[in-house]
Amino acid sequence: MRLPILLSATAVVLAAASPHAKRAAIDDCLKEAKVPVTARNSTQWKTDAGPFNDRLAYDPVAVAIPTTVEHIQAAVSCAAELGVKLNPKSGGHSYASFGLGGEDGHLVVELDRMYNVTLDPETHIATVQPGARLGHIATVIYEEGKRAFSHGTCPGVGVGGHSLHGGFGFSSHTHGLAVDWITSADVVLANGSLVTASETENPDLFWALRGAGSNFGIVASFRFKTFAVPQNVTSYEINLPWSNSTNMVKGWGALQGWLLNGSMPEEMNMRILGNGFQTQLQGLYHGNSSALKTAIEPLLKLLGAKLSNVKDYDWMEGFEHYAYTNDIDVTDPDYNQSETFYSKSLVTSALPADVLKSVAEYWIKTAKKVTRSWYIIIDLYGGPNSAITRVAPEATSYAFRDPKKHLFLYQLYDRSFGAYPDDGFEFLDGWVDAFTGGLDAEQWGMYINYADPRLDRAEAQDVYYRQNLARLRQIKKQVDPAEVFYYPQAVEPAEA
Ligand SMILES: Cc1cc2nc3c(=O)[nH]c(=O)nc-3n(C[C@H](O)[C@H](O)[C@H](O)COP(=O)(O)OP(=O)(O)OC[C@H]3O[C@@H](n4cnc5c(N)ncnc54)[C@H](O)[C@@H]3O)c2cc1C
Ligand SMILES: *[C@@H]1O[C@H](CO)[C@@H](O)[C@H](O)[C@H]1NC(C)=O
Ligand SMILES: *[C@@H]1O[C@H](CO)[C@@H](O)[C@H](O)[C@H]1NC(C)=O
Ligand SMILES: *[C@@H]1O[C@H](CO)[C@@H](O)[C@H](O)[C@H]1NC(C)=O
Ligand SMILES: *[C@@H]1O[C@H](CO)[C@@H](O)[C@H](O)[C@H]1NC(C)=O
Ligand SMILES: *[C@@H]1O[C@H](CO)[C@@H](O)[C@H](O)[C@H]1NC(C)=O
Ligand SMILES: *[C@@H]1O[C@H](CO)[C@@H](O)[C@H](O)[C@H]1NC(C)=O
Ligand SMILES: *[C@@H]1O[C@H](CO)[C@@H](O)[C@H](O)[C@H]1NC(C)=O
Ligand SMILES: *[C@@H]1O[C@H](CO)[C@@H](O)[C@H](O)[C@H]1NC(C)=O
Repeated sequence: MRLPILLSATAVVLAAASPHAKRAAIDDCLKEAKVPVTARNSTQWKTDAGPFNDRLAYDPVAVAIPTTVEHIQAAVSCAAELGVKLNPKSGGHSYASFGLGGEDGHLVVELDRMYNVTLDPETHIATVQPGARLGHIATVIYEEGKRAFSHGTCPGVGVGGHSLHGGFGFSSHTHGLAVDWITSADVVLANGSLVTASETENPDLFWALRGAGSNFGIVASFRFKTFAVPQNVTSYEINLPWSNSTNMVKGWGALQGWLLNGSMPEEMNMRILGNGFQTQLQGLYHGNSSALKTAIEPLLKLLGAKLSNVKDYDWMEGFEHYAYTNDIDVTDPDYNQSETFYSKSLVTSALPADVLKSVAEYWIKTAKKVTRSWYIIIDLYGGPNSAITRVAPEATSYAFRDPKKHLFLYQLYDRSFGAYPDDGFEFLDGWVDAFTGGLDAEQWGMYINYADPRLDRAEAQDVYYRQNLARLRQIKKQVDPAEVFYYPQAVEPAEA
């Protein structure tokens, strides 16, 4: 392993050097350390250095493609020694292209060649390499032991970014976030050393990783605990008659009261999906359809609505239903899905009447007139029976665990075919303002897994991490003071 020399003379010289000199130095260092790389301008470069969000393409100084932990360590040492910023890329699904650095000139450590998953038959602990995608992990641990852990719906999303910053999906009301299932991790630090982080080993680092993991090192191996899958899951929809803002305020208010007062059973998982064509509840019940029908009856009465599209599934069919693809077990390094979009997120408390009204009016009067392919997803995230807010607020650096403050998680997404228009941004900005304008700062935040790159660094750190930011900055100062792991919204080291 190369010995790191933080802020060495070489680093200072290179910081001012031309992009060409920087590139040559990094190429030489990686070559000498025998780290595999993707050839610039090759077909493979297009997928390894390509973004998921086509609006945000960047030009890395080099792309390393490690197949061993030693390769990862050597790549980090090269970057530290030469003063080049570095970012790991797992599934590459960051909305802000942070796996590519979120700007030009970074060394990208493309982890997707490292996707092995094994399940220990006795402890039911899954050991997961850092470039595994969610669909592959779900497939392996289901096939080997009928086990699972909670995570999101898209099979191509990488475990690295997803689980280190939250990870919400159709098991989260029942079983919490992906981050809650991590029991330990092996981490390559900025000085190239490899350490284990868990409740008992390097506990500060373990705390920081579980919510803000992109700032402190590269997780080179994850251990996740798992749960036994339920025999049956049931998907369902409920169309909402929210064609005008009066109906919407009434219906949303009723749904919120139902969620707040503990009427949503733990086994139920649900979200509102709204787009230009429809507004509906969609869910996955962890149990069979007869149990679902009994459990949901009071809500149907309350909303004056009907169940539709009820489907009994086994576990993997339930995952496939919301994956919207049959291509679940993805391990292909040529994976190249992408779209052009802008997205914003929110986590909020219950909404007071005036906020509900301004949000609903924006939805009906403004959003419904936008002809691009937009959607809003409102996850029924918290409430007394949610596994997410049962975890103590200070247990992990993930910031949104207060049963009184964190009820809904939102994703606002606006996609274009062709270039995204310059006047597009104000659409989602305005919608978010309709929420935050009537809430106190402690009643809302934003979710870095749906990163909004238009926030400046100070604002981004505040809304993503809120009460946990100060401690994160202290830990950053200890483990990465030179900011080797940097992107435009990265946690800043605490001042000396
Ligand atoms: C189609 C799609 C569907 C999605 N669905 C959901 C969903 O259902 N629920 C949900 O919660 N989110 C969802 N997301 C958001 C997703 O969770 C985030 O974009 C996530 O950060 C992506 O992780 P990644 O590894 O694929 O991304 P990357 O771009 O590879 O990484 C994201 C960030 O994590 C860092 N990182 C990656 N690997 C490591 C590592 N090993 N160690 C340290 N840092 C690392 C990167 O440097 C970067 O800063 C979805 C995104 C997309 C595009
Ligand atoms: C790669 O392509 C760019 C332009 O697309 C060109 O300027 C550069 O010389 C090429 N580099 C190599 C190594 O072929
Ligand atoms: C994944 O596991 C297979 C089989 O055990 C092994 O041959 C391969 O080298 C492993 N890949 C990595 C990147 O560790
Ligand atoms: C809203 O829509 C409902 C039916 O969908 C209708 O009965 C009601 O009059 C409408 N209210 C307003 C203010 O338009
Ligand atoms: C919760 O609220 C719903 C709808 O307002 C109501 O029907 C139900 O009785 C309430 N339950 C409890 C336990 O308060
Ligand atoms: C459905 O699940 C319930 C338990 O939640 C069980 O009692 C019942 O037998 C199941 N019904 C069928 C048809 O499997
Ligand atoms: C429900 O679970 C039972 C027991 O695992 C299984 O045999 C049955 O196929 C499942 N139903 C569906 C529709 O998948
Ligand atoms: C993505 O990969 C598929 C399969 O290899 C290929 O057919 C398609 O053209 C690629 N798309 C892009 C945009 O490169
Ligand atoms: C690497 O950094 C960690 C965290 O700052 C520190 O504890 C460790 O001693 C360092 N290791 C070396 C070899 O410098």
